[in-house]
Amino acid sequence: MESKGSLNMNILILGSGAREHAIAWAVKQNPKCSRLLVAPGNAGIADIAEISKTNIENCDEVVDLAKREKIDFVIIGPEAPLAAGVSDALKNNGFLVFGPTQAAANLEVSKSFMKEICTSANIPTAKYANFNDLVSAKKYIAEQGAPIVIKADGLAAGKGVTVAMDLPTAYQALEDIFSSGSKNLETKVVIEEFMEGEEASFFVLCNGQKLLPIGTAQDHKRVGDGDTGPNTGGMGAYSPAPILTEKIEDSVIEEIIKPTLHEMERRGAPYQGVLYAGLMIKDEKARLVEYNARFGDPECQPLMMRLGAQVLDLLIATSNGDLDECHISWADDHALCVVMASIGYPGKIKKGSIIKGVRNLSSSSSQMCFHAGTTKEANNLVANSGRVLSFTARGKTLAEAQSVAYEMAKSIDWKEGFYRTDIGWRALL
Ligand code: AMP
Ligand code: GLY
Repeated sequence: MESKGSLNMNILILGSGAREHAIAWAVKQNPKCSRLLVAPGNAGIADIAEISKTNIENCDEVVDLAKREKIDFVIIGPEAPLAAGVSDALKNNGFLVFGPTQAAANLEVSKSFMKEICTSANIPTAKYANFNDLVSAKKYIAEQGAPIVIKADGLAAGKGVTVAMDLPTAYQALEDIFSSGSKNLETKVVIEEFMEGEEASFFVLCNGQKLLPIGTAQDHKRVGDGDTGPNTGGMGAYSPAPILTEKIEDSVIEEIIKPTLHEMERRGAPYQGVLYAGLMIKDEKARLVEYNARFGDPECQPLMMRLGAQVLDLLIATSNGDLDECHISWADDHALCVVMASIGYPGKIKKGSIIKGVRNLSSSSSQMCFHAGTTKEANNLVANSGRVLSFTARGKTLAEAQSVAYEMAKSIDWKEGFYRTDIGWRALL
């Protein structure tokens, strides 16, 4: 596709996860990218881009970096810089940026704001109530009964939500939130009706009221096989999501995405960037679980693998407001990603173990090992956080993609790491 991005662009990506590695990998293949800089990056990203150790949540530092390096386009990967207003700071300094303003990113940052938008725009979602004191919150839960969902307001790195199947668990979640001494937010907790169904993620590029769907995915949030154990940031994902049929997609656009964009604009906070709608689907009807103001991780890895170099044109068009002039070319295929994490994740992990075998993996447009928490020490690849590697593969069928991703995972020699063995099971049933 064509876009107004010029040739020879200096591009800066903010982030250090496998999501940002996948975005960097796709962007690098586009001939418009002449120089690629990533801050703060990781060991895998360092193989394909220049690295800057900038603090990406500090607006001044990021603006200085963009000025110093004569950056033409900035892509913001994670939510923390969005919440810190980095997109606003860059835009105010005249930079072309992919990523919503702080006010628009509130759709992810504040659960109560997101629910308020749903109410104003009549968007199908779980019934809810907000509380800022423990006694009224407990009383409400006692009236509603279990199962029930408790959400701390504000960013919590995937740890702010408790799906309580019984009342003691619900009360405990409330106690934890109210005793955590978190910031003095107006709303401390959002309590929601428990929604049944199958979850899927829908990604839409947006600029004001213009929009372009950029794919569907499903992730596996639980740490253990069979979707058991505690929630994580995501242990694997695949795209497309078979449950999101064209008919459901159309209704999500009409009933959820368009009213949201309209309402955000009406409130003076037009949305620009990727809007990630977490959906619950039951009886062919979708309801909104949550919004994120960025690509999902690991969902982004299969998406980037399926989209390739055109991603840069699409992200530039989103930022320029040229979305109505673009279309996406999709190969009729599937991609799947298996996450390898440090043993103990999502709890306590030990850093510093050596990972062997990554260098021997082949890299191509149909299989890539994207890095998250990796560094290099004395020429060894070393693990330094919870999620460490994302084995991502494409195939004509999902089964084929799954088989290649697992072949990659099995060839790694890293005793301190683990992965789930059933990524994609639901779609392959
Ligand atoms: P959130 O951070 O809001 O996406 O919540 C994290 C996860 O909790 C979601 O992906 C769902 O699996 C689950 N969840 C959140 N809200 C609900 C709800 N109202 N009903 C059922 N499950 C939910
Ligand atoms: N995989 C879920 C997320 O990125 O929020």
